[in-house]
Amino acid sequence: MVNKMSKGEFMFKELSEGPQGVINTLEQARDEVLNAKKLVEEKSLLKSFIIGSGTSFHASVFLQMLLTKFTDLHVAAIPASEFKEWTPLVRKDYFLIGYSQSGESSDIVEAVKIANDKGILSISITNTPGSTLTKISTRAIVTRAGEEKAVAATKTFDVQLAAALMLTYSLTNKDQNKIRKAAQTSEKVLQLGEKIKEIAEKYKESSNAFTLGRGLAYPIALEAALKLKEAAMIHSEGFAVREFLHGPVQLVDENTPVLLFVTSEEGLEESIKALQKIKQYNAPVIYVGPKSYKAKEYCTDFIEIEKIDDELMPIPLVKAAQLFAYHISVLRGLNPDKPTKLSKVVTY
Ligand code: AGP
Repeated sequence: MVNKMSKGEFMFKELSEGPQGVINTLEQARDEVLNAKKLVEEKSLLKSFIIGSGTSFHASVFLQMLLTKFTDLHVAAIPASEFKEWTPLVRKDYFLIGYSQSGESSDIVEAVKIANDKGILSISITNTPGSTLTKISTRAIVTRAGEEKAVAATKTFDVQLAAALMLTYSLTNKDQNKIRKAAQTSEKVLQLGEKIKEIAEKYKESSNAFTLGRGLAYPIALEAALKLKEAAMIHSEGFAVREFLHGPVQLVDENTPVLLFVTSEEGLEESIKALQKIKQYNAPVIYVGPKSYKAKEYCTDFIEIEKIDDELMPIPLVKAAQLFAYHISVLRGLNPDKPTKLSKVVTY
């Protein structure tokens, strides 16, 4: 059906539906989140692997950071396909959290089956009710983004981030309603569409790009790089900001845009050294974050986003990244709904 639509119609529609998906998930998945929390508490689970592939792996990294920052759990995010190599010898206290929008990717389904065989309990977070993953895991949280048709995941990533926040807030007895603010701010980013399109126009011919983020913006940098690859066919890599100084900066020049994702002024301060270095080699920096005078010194283009709590910022930040990738894709004459070499669900 995708072919009958104009190029990118699904991706644009779906990324626009993200904020409502976040609200729907918040309103409709609370009991499932509560059941997941009860499992962790009643079974005294203390350590977890969080697994996913592609975009779902980036959500896993976000959840890893939240649980590490705000709870006593010891967690490690790893690609679902690698789980077999990491399965702990001592299984007591361990559980698995598996992210998958489809609930059908072979890598995640196989990983949960391995966990089941070894007696490791699992919580899945999927956007597809009734999917294999919901059936084989111990508990399932079903996000409510609605069906996603474009190959490039957008709204389903938004709700994966929301589910991470819900689970963390539930485990720490915080008010989950705060997450509404992230959805509202993400909705405001959608209104910046024209501005983001203008910036995309400037960089549409780029062959390479880098995406950087620190702290909770790091998984967003990873996700932005993936969106640019699959939707816009730009070779892009995401890094933690200062990691960029440890080798990759060798590749920047005036034709290499660098997208910088920032959750707070403090995060920016920690990034100044890297920005100075990037500026030295004339690479244009596209700043995505809360209004900052300091950023004006080092950055070329600005997508300014209302400042909300740090841990909520990734939801609006990624909306800017999705819009940027979408516009570049369409401006390059590509169809981001159906990249030629990809399928929506990777099975083998
Ligand atoms: C996302 O834009 C990609 N199409 C891809 O990386 C995807 O996230 C990955 O294949 C995992 O899919 P899943 O979430 O359905 O398991």
